[in-house]
Amino acid sequence: MGKKMMTISLYCQVMHLVMCCLLCFSGYGHSLKSAMYLFGSSVLDMGTNNYLPNGAKGNYYPYGIDYPGGEATGRFSNGKNAGDFLVEMVGVPSPKPSLSISNKSDMVEEFLKGVNFASGGAGVLDTTYPAYCMTLSQQIGLFNEMVEKTVDKIGHIETFEHMKRSYIVLNIGNNDITIASNSGVDPEEYASLLIFTLHPHLKNIYDVGGRRFVTISTGAQGCLPRARTETGGCSEETNKLAKAYNTKLASLMQTLQSEADSDDPLHYSYFDLFAAHELLNSIRESLGFTEGVVACCGTGAFNGSAYRCAPGTVPCDNRTNHIYWDNVHYTERFTGLLMRLAFYGSDPYVKPINVKELSEIPVLSLYPTDQVKSTK
Ligand SMILES: *[C@@H]1O[C@H](CO)[C@@H](O)[C@H](O)[C@H]1NC(C)=O
Ligand SMILES: *[C@@H]1O[C@H](CO)[C@@H](O)[C@H](O)[C@H]1NC(C)=O
Ligand SMILES: *[C@@H]1O[C@H](CO)[C@@H](O)[C@H](O)[C@H]1NC(C)=O
Repeated sequence: MGKKMMTISLYCQVMHLVMCCLLCFSGYGHSLKSAMYLFGSSVLDMGTNNYLPNGAKGNYYPYGIDYPGGEATGRFSNGKNAGDFLVEMVGVPSPKPSLSISNKSDMVEEFLKGVNFASGGAGVLDTTYPAYCMTLSQQIGLFNEMVEKTVDKIGHIETFEHMKRSYIVLNIGNNDITIASNSGVDPEEYASLLIFTLHPHLKNIYDVGGRRFVTISTGAQGCLPRARTETGGCSEETNKLAKAYNTKLASLMQTLQSEADSDDPLHYSYFDLFAAHELLNSIRESLGFTEGVVACCGTGAFNGSAYRCAPGTVPCDNRTNHIYWDNVHYTERFTGLLMRLAFYGSDPYVKPINVKELSEIPVLSLYPTDQVKSTK
């Protein structure tokens, strides 16, 4: 072996050792565990709106009828929601609603276990149902405040390293599309406006350390029971809005990745909820979903009236054969199948990787643990 070869070989061995050490060290330290931070709409809300006097609510019977203990927690489902399935599959603590921990003495410890900022009714635009939810700007604002308090307590580096290990889950846009339905707005223009507005919010999360994004697109909005009440069938116009937004959302994730520091890359799994819905819907009979259009709880045609599922309503007997729980939300069982596709699926349902693959990408710590600790 020539001297030069030996030098290269030695260099490789040393680098290998360094990389190993970094990988080993990452994961130690109490706050260097993964947690989940969820942003967006009712698809992910785990009780945020319970704290808003005028918030859109899911905290009364029959919501939660199939949740452990039959408890109505504020989730817009008969049981678990999309966030719960992700929590279970990825293996992180169940995040508490942001407003249940804000300004508490143990807020930083709670923050490090993950937080649910998602709020039923929220949209990308602050003008989307602002009276009934925490808007996305408010969600990000509260997140920033909590990050600052965490930095004060455990230091910048450890906070950053914690965020890098954590999952940022996002589902937003559905309510903006509901508002724009039948307004005659141009789908491409509207989608551009939404993406233009969303971009800085995601950049903000990246700037404080967010490196693992799970982005859930909007679904077949035009086929929701609420949308069907107008024509009987799916609203193609509404579906066009959703598709235009989804395409641009997938590109936005690519853009974010390309804008990120190449030495400390951003990884994401984009889940095409629309495509996943179409796949499962096309084989729904074989999956046991004998009722694919009428919601399990609600009033009017398709149980799709805008008044949703009212307090005290006795819902349908069989929640496992319905795709829709209320006028705009899936049942727990259908949600579970969708999220399994997010976790294990492949293109075109997930791009460029699924959530399982995302969770297996090692986090390269930029700092050895002893240095991280010394910042406390
Ligand atoms: C704490 O309370 C103040 C005053 O009510 C509020 O403005 C602020 O947003 C809260 N901060 C957090 C992190 O909860
Ligand atoms: C409910 O629906 C599921 C799926 O179609 C079916 O397997 C089950 O037998 C139904 N349960 C009742 C009580 O009808
Ligand atoms: C429609 O909703 C009502 C309760 O609001 C429920 O009793 C009924 O079973 C639902 N219809 C279907 C087909 O699920």
